[in-house]
Amino acid sequence: MQAILLLAFLSSLVSAFDYTVGVGKDERTGKKGMGFDPSSIHPQAGDSIVFEFRSGAHSAVQSTYDNPCTPLEGGFNSGVITVADNLEVDAPGLPQIRLLVNSTEPLWFFDQAGGLCREGAVLSANPTSTQTAGGFVENASRAPASPPPSSSTSSDPSSSTGSTSTSTGEAAPAQSSGSNTGYRDAVSGAAVLFGLVIGLL
Ligand SMILES: *[C@@H]1O[C@H](CO)[C@@H](O)[C@H](O)[C@H]1NC(C)=O
Ligand SMILES: *[C@@H]1O[C@H](CO)[C@@H](O)[C@H](O)[C@H]1NC(C)=O
Repeated sequence: MQAILLLAFLSSLVSAFDYTVGVGKDERTGKKGMGFDPSSIHPQAGDSIVFEFRSGAHSAVQSTYDNPCTPLEGGFNSGVITVADNLEVDAPGLPQIRLLVNSTEPLWFFDQAGGLCREGAVLSANPTSTQTAGGFVENASRAPASPPPSSSTSSDPSSSTGSTSTSTGEAAPAQSSGSNTGYRDAVSGAAVLFGLVIGLL
């Protein structure tokens, strides 16, 4: 019984994973640029997406598969995050905004402030066999040039050149510049604990 509880605890440790996604980082080059790096992820319930913002004005905004470049009413919106141009692509302390994932339902995002949604600045979380990451990019390329006006109060940064710093205040200092260290720590910690459990039996 105790072993079962411990094992359950260990698997919960291993499964809580931070998916760090660079915003304004080109996954093809690893440099500052358009889009999200990586642009397709598969988080589980309990995992988090940690958006980490690169130079320029960017925002991570939830949309839908059918309308990739239009904010989802009531969906996640990081607000516009502005990062100085002289920071290296993986500089320490880049602003981060965390989104807890509550299910394996697909989630769709675009970089509204970056303004290159139709060029492919989109992120798929848990795409399916019918709603694929590639299909989302394709849909984005056919999206209307500017999102239809919505009743929400959020301003459209691409149409108001002057406003660049609508920070949400949620940005936290980066905990690590690597994306998978938390996972590795959890795994090795779990391995040590697992060894202890086996030793106790
Ligand atoms: C998951 O739930 C938390 C807490 O209710 C909420 O803040 C968050 O926005 C939810 N995540 C998604 C992707 O809707
Ligand atoms: C997005 O893709 C789906 C399925 O391929 C299609 O039904 C829908 O019309 C597309 N939306 C846009 C805006 O192209």
